[in-house]
Amino acid sequence: MNWIRIISTETLKKGNYITAVNVLGKNICLVRTDDEFFALQNNCPHAGAKLSNGWCSNGKIVCPYHRHEFDLKTGRGAPEQGNYVDTYPLEMRVDGLYIGIKKAWWKFW
Ligand code: FES
Repeated sequence: MNWIRIISTETLKKGNYITAVNVLGKNICLVRTDDEFFALQNNCPHAGAKLSNGWCSNGKIVCPYHRHEFDLKTGRGAPEQGNYVDTYPLEMRVDGLYIGIKKAWWKFW
């Protein structure tokens, strides 16, 4: 697992927000709620909209195109959707917020 700092402590914004960050070529949707951060794949699996342009409701992020919903913690879509988004671990450290990205095995060869 690679741990990459995505926000320094000095630039950490307060309040609730949704934004997009690019980490090692991955487009990530970063969500801050009152007291928690969540990181999910930013491309909606339905038709590719950016979830970072959506909104949060009841612990889910809602896609702005066709309103598919994904659980912020697990990435699971509602049962009738039959889809999900990848989620990524986050860790708050003294110098900022870090995201964990698994190393791709093929990069070792
Ligand atoms: S593109 Fe997200 S619900 Fe259709």
